[in-house]
Amino acid sequence: MIVSGSRSQSLAAALARELEQPLAAVEYDRFPDGELLASVPGFSASGADRAVIVASTVSSDAHLEVLQLQDAVREAGAEEVVTVLPYMGYGRQDEAFEAGQPVSSRAVARAISTGVDRVLTVNPHEKSVCDFFDPVATAVDAAGRLADPLPDDLVDPVFLSPDAGAIDLAETVRDAYGDGTGETDYFEKTRLSGEEVEISPSDTVVEGRDVVVTDDIIATGSTMSEAVAILHERGVDRVFVTCVHPLLTANAFTKLSRAGVEAIYGTDTIEGPASVVSVAPALATALETNY
Ligand code: R5P
Repeated sequence: MIVSGSRSQSLAAALARELEQPLAAVEYDRFPDGELLASVPGFSASGADRAVIVASTVSSDAHLEVLQLQDAVREAGAEEVVTVLPYMGYGRQDEAFEAGQPVSSRAVARAISTGVDRVLTVNPHEKSVCDFFDPVATAVDAAGRLADPLPDDLVDPVFLSPDAGAIDLAETVRDAYGDGTGETDYFEKTRLSGEEVEISPSDTVVEGRDVVVTDDIIATGSTMSEAVAILHERGVDRVFVTCVHPLLTANAFTKLSRAGVEAIYGTDTIEGPASVVSVAPALATALETNY
């Protein structure tokens, strides 16, 4: 039975259809003091012995929901609990970057590990976060699907990443697009603050060409809008932006539109205006694979 967190309802439904499994009725309530109560009222009566919880941990509440749903289905008799974190929140704080900081992704992984038999997540910022979980945790690669919505008529395309860390994603999108022959390249990025980045361009000539820029996450949109601005300064024709996790906080969508992007294509690991590609088929395949 598929059990959905409140922020992943559309993906959970798509996954239930893909796997031909029932979708549990879930209730998300809040006590007068603000505390959450996520429950799965019909689970024990359903006779299901495996619960697959699908919940992107996009907020502190969403983290709490995962812990509660894991506990609720176990309490209701689930023999196996699998948690799918389409987007794993706090995944980018995978080390203590300054003295006194926590390794936040390890802290949340440890908490989730206490109530689950298997974990899946989609394109984490660093695959090594999977090692923070006690049960087997698998990183599912859904980046290839980002090529699906791109137009067929890209002109002499360049598949670019805004920093070296995302070049694998750009290559995956290039390989999945058309005959897989486009050029790939990456910019160098220095993060100045949470909302400010400095991008150093590469030597690739983009004048008159179409460029597809791919990153794992778009959060504030600062990284992407800087990259897009440089491309326009250099005479690019069209710019398409793709990412696995379209977090798009605050004014990110507007920022990118104003920077001159043709379209923003993301997946449904985060449900919002750019979630045009579903990761449900990739998750279904991974869930059906023994580990
Ligand atoms: C960081 O290295 C990630 O790959 C993304 O580039 C970053 O999280 C994007 O954040 P923002 O949209 O806030 O620039």
